[in-house]
Amino acid sequence: MRKLEFPKTFLWGGGLADFQAEGGYEESGRGLTTLDFVTSGNIDQPRRLTYILPDGTKGVQPARGCALPEGARGYIDPDYYYPSLHAVDFAFHYKEDIKMLAEMGSSVFRFSICWTRLFPKGIEDEALEAGLKFYENIIDECLKYKVEPLVTICHDEIPAYLADEYSGWLNRKTIDCYLKLCKALFKRFKGKVKYWITFNEINSLNGYMALGCTQYDDYSRFVGAHHMFLASALAVKMGHEMMDDVMFGAMYASSPCYPLTCKPEDVFMQMQVRRRTWYFADVMMRGYYPGYAQTILEEKGVTLPIEDGDEEILREGTLDFYSFSCYRSTTVNVYSEFPIKGCDIMSMDTNPYLPTTAWGWPLDPMSLRYILNEVYDRYQKPVFIAENGLGEIDQADADGYVEDDYRIQYLKDHFKEIRKAICLDHVEVLGYTMWGCIDLVSLGTGEMKKRYGWIYVDMDDEGNGTKKRIPKKSYYWMQEFLTTNGANLEQEDEPLII
Ligand code: BG6
Repeated sequence: MRKLEFPKTFLWGGGLADFQAEGGYEESGRGLTTLDFVTSGNIDQPRRLTYILPDGTKGVQPARGCALPEGARGYIDPDYYYPSLHAVDFAFHYKEDIKMLAEMGSSVFRFSICWTRLFPKGIEDEALEAGLKFYENIIDECLKYKVEPLVTICHDEIPAYLADEYSGWLNRKTIDCYLKLCKALFKRFKGKVKYWITFNEINSLNGYMALGCTQYDDYSRFVGAHHMFLASALAVKMGHEMMDDVMFGAMYASSPCYPLTCKPEDVFMQMQVRRRTWYFADVMMRGYYPGYAQTILEEKGVTLPIEDGDEEILREGTLDFYSFSCYRSTTVNVYSEFPIKGCDIMSMDTNPYLPTTAWGWPLDPMSLRYILNEVYDRYQKPVFIAENGLGEIDQADADGYVEDDYRIQYLKDHFKEIRKAICLDHVEVLGYTMWGCIDLVSLGTGEMKKRYGWIYVDMDDEGNGTKKRIPKKSYYWMQEFLTTNGANLEQEDEPLII
């Protein structure tokens, strides 16, 4: 049997996002960002925004994924708990956190920039030195341990001022604000950061939190995306002009969708569902709108505000790598709800062959190999697995130690599929960053009890706890995995290959 091995250059590590980890929302002139107004929630009641209307009426979004009344602005209501404001205080623990990840053997660390730490409103001409220094400290800490920083420039949020005054990404002027952020980052971190992600999960953004507009509909989704495509392309072009030896990607929510049956209609339906992701990636990876975009836009009744020169911008700013999140797979059949509301690619059906997590997410390790191949076949550019991992309820003992054998099994199953994609399918995979490597606040529900990490954080759903960091059993398994280049990952007898 042929022995399968990971390349020595493969980047291994974990990732987090500013609003789920940093805290310190009032530090050094940081401005408010749309995700600051999101309350805590739970599995039955996802996180929701609180807002205020021009006449002073306060309200709460009926459910996540709903429009806000016209004129609504994000508002922090003292009657609610907002987990992102303090999160797990990564801002104050980053040295210890990065050290623990480095000692585990990490070679990459993914984090995101909080735009309002640099530009509190988003419209200023110069970045705040305190904000630049904040991220410089994190980057330098990584480099001290030879850990490659992977920087997400914008992770599902926008400065509250741009949301309230500009309607966020519906306004073309937001592109220039984003480019000021990029320019400040590139100027300061040139020579230190090689891997950049322009936007997180750009194919699943909508509404106030991510786009900064009160609407939650197809029009804002696609118009907002057009402006983000331009912003990303201009950032990529500028980044390559300002820095040597850098690579740009964007991140796509890429959990695969399978046809539920071999009925031709189901298979065709699946192809159409996949295009809800490809629509975004095709423009950014290839540099132009694909033919089927016209059909989608006509069906949605959306006319894009394309101006002279936009096509050239898209052509000149294509991405260097594809990065993605993959937590689960879904199925679709002709009876599924379709067209998908607001391009929400997650609202597809589950799979009768797969077990699910406590949060109902189907567990499908092979989906990783599937998506890696699918993406590489399509674009022939390197791929980065930016998010994958298991959100579970971890039971810590009296010392805070968690025996998360289920997470170890999850990692083993998924790593084997990555190894096959690399060794058997010859996909060029740059690296893997496990999501929520240090326990953090869940994006979807705002809970702490949905834990992803190798490192436990002593904090509960209401923010109580010491915030002490304690390595879990999976941390030690991962340490062995990384120091032996995967020797503790069994070889398989019959890797699936045609
Ligand atoms: C991705 C996001 O969609 O999913 C992360 O980029 C998020 O920010 C992750 O945390 C997992 O989702 P959740 O709801 O379990 O936090």
